[in-house]
Amino acid sequence: MLVNRPRRLRANEHIRSLVREAQVNVNDLIYPIFLVEGNNIKKEISALPNNYHFSVDMLKEEIEELIDLGIKAVMLFGLPNKKDELGSEAYAEDGIVQRGIRRIKEITKDLLVITDVCMCQYTDHGHCGIIKDGHVDNDLSLEYISRTALSHAKAGADMVAPSDMMDGRVGAIRKKLDNNGFENIAIMAYSAKYSSAFYGPFRAAANSTPQFGDRRTYQMDWGNSDEAIREAKLDITEGADVIMVKPALSYMDIIRRFKDNFNYPIAAYNVSGEYSMIKAASKAGLVDEKAVVTEILTSIKRAGADIIITYFAKDIARWILEK
Ligand code: PBG
Repeated sequence: MLVNRPRRLRANEHIRSLVREAQVNVNDLIYPIFLVEGNNIKKEISALPNNYHFSVDMLKEEIEELIDLGIKAVMLFGLPNKKDELGSEAYAEDGIVQRGIRRIKEITKDLLVITDVCMCQYTDHGHCGIIKDGHVDNDLSLEYISRTALSHAKAGADMVAPSDMMDGRVGAIRKKLDNNGFENIAIMAYSAKYSSAFYGPFRAAANSTPQFGDRRTYQMDWGNSDEAIREAKLDITEGADVIMVKPALSYMDIIRRFKDNFNYPIAAYNVSGEYSMIKAASKAGLVDEKAVVTEILTSIKRAGADIIITYFAKDIARWILEK
């Protein structure tokens, strides 16, 4: 006689959903938005099908759609017209992201506005910090990165997300925000950001490929996992409110280690390459897009993520509504 029959709990959808451990909720999602200079622009990004470059004046319809879908948070990326050595458009009061934040806050107060804080879209050399003597200078970069975060907070951002991977940037940002009366603005740290080939479509979309060298002196090596724990510990000590793993799919073990090691909200960034691969495979008729996306995002939650940043946010929100 078989006493244990695991199939009892798989008999029908009601019982399966009763015992399901992980599922994606629309409240978990952050949708990335790419802002460009100019007017009247809503242009599909070829590297990221079904995602668009928006000029600030074209945001209203998109923001209203997100709210209708129940999405609660966006992450802003900016593509400035002018790049220079110091990435000055990153912290300009009327920079592209700063104007985007103000516009979204005009449209609604009912959406969390999170900003990616980095220099790479804004520097003419395309690195995530400031170059001195041919190298990214860590401590010099901190001043510009924290200045950028402060300018986002001043424009009305609810949360800032430093993605540069300089040492000490969370502490520098926390101090800068606190000294300027923004102690309630949260920091979501890209704590374990790997030097990944999966960022390819993003760099095409954001025009942020480094002009020389690569990002391996600041982003993490693929082979490391203990180092991710050390990075997250540093970020938490320096004042991070949320810790992130990026990319998601090749780093599920890191998500799980974060979950087991830290009692902090964990975000996972389902990055551009992960998105575009699925888009290409489903376009070729190789996979059922809705099924694989749901499976992947559910598995990111099961791995331990509380928050998922994904270009699929609108699709999954729609599928949840339809259900
Ligand atoms: C900026 C930044 C990158 C991504 C998010 N912020 C690119 C990079 O580090 O090269 C990648 C996001 C994606 O691939 O979806 N530093």
